[in-house]
Amino acid sequence: MTHTAMNSLFANIPIWPEGASKAAFEMDALYLFIVGLTIFFSAIVFGLVLYFVGKYYAGSKADRSNPSFHNLKLELVWSLIPLALGLFVFVWAAKLYVEVQAPISSENALDIYVVGKQWMWQMQHPTGQRENNELHVPVGRPVKLTMISQDVIHSFFVPAFRVKNDVVPGRYRTLWFEPTKVGKYHLFCAEYCGTKHSEMVGWIYVMEPEDYEMWLKDNQWGMGNEKATMAEAGAALYQQLQCGSCHDPNQRIGPPLAGVYGTTRTLSDGRRVIADRDYLRQAILDPQAVTVSGYENIMPPFRSQLTEVEVNQLIEYIKTLGKGNELPVAETKNEEGVNKG
Ligand code: CUA
Repeated sequence: MTHTAMNSLFANIPIWPEGASKAAFEMDALYLFIVGLTIFFSAIVFGLVLYFVGKYYAGSKADRSNPSFHNLKLELVWSLIPLALGLFVFVWAAKLYVEVQAPISSENALDIYVVGKQWMWQMQHPTGQRENNELHVPVGRPVKLTMISQDVIHSFFVPAFRVKNDVVPGRYRTLWFEPTKVGKYHLFCAEYCGTKHSEMVGWIYVMEPEDYEMWLKDNQWGMGNEKATMAEAGAALYQQLQCGSCHDPNQRIGPPLAGVYGTTRTLSDGRRVIADRDYLRQAILDPQAVTVSGYENIMPPFRSQLTEVEVNQLIEYIKTLGKGNELPVAETKNEEGVNKG
């Protein structure tokens, strides 16, 4: 039975939400398969129970001589077939899980940054547009969400896309979906996160690509009149927080940042780490914990000064450095370029 046929069959009984993403059909198929298996084996077990009750009730004239205690063939059959079925379900489910949570990266993917906080969802497009409790995306293009929480554990759940992932404080998590149908779909927080957890809801708007382009243009200023891409907003923060007084190329007080994203760093405690999103976030908010080898442990923590949205912007800016976007070389200081420490 096709998805549409199933949906129309149950049109008046909402057994499951509309399916509007690539993963939705396969998730439903897996779910139905597991339900089918459960019904099949329950029917066998209860059928046999009833059959034997009928055959061997006290006083029945069944043949009770020569009872069988052991049947290797039968035991192999009822062990190996369920084992194979179980493993089949495991492999199928694991494949789907991996695809949704950490799929092969796609060049074409649209990156969206999500911050969960009590009690709202803040989204930002790389081109700068910001939305609260709403997300506009084009149909037919994979969307990659990079999510983090400002406070407690939340969970980003879009039933129509069959995707859900916890949004936790302190580390980034991702979620992928590829919308297949234009429309408006529920977004829920699926983790109890306090008094107004039930109000932490929103909408995902899936639009035709042309409409999405229009929407991007119409909303160029985003919220708070920031006419800036995430990287540009990050550059402004870099200036405002005076990160350059240590990190600009000719300062040599802090490690240089050009091209740092994705490289391997050696820390002062000997650990070797990759400068990914999580590392950069920690290096900004809690730098004492990840001092780079050869540098003094002098950077103040920015934990209390930055929101997660701002950290996202700073990281997007740092990612552009060394890729045609060079840091300004400040005037004189430290001509010698001596590395302290
Ligand atoms: Cu956020 Cu529940």
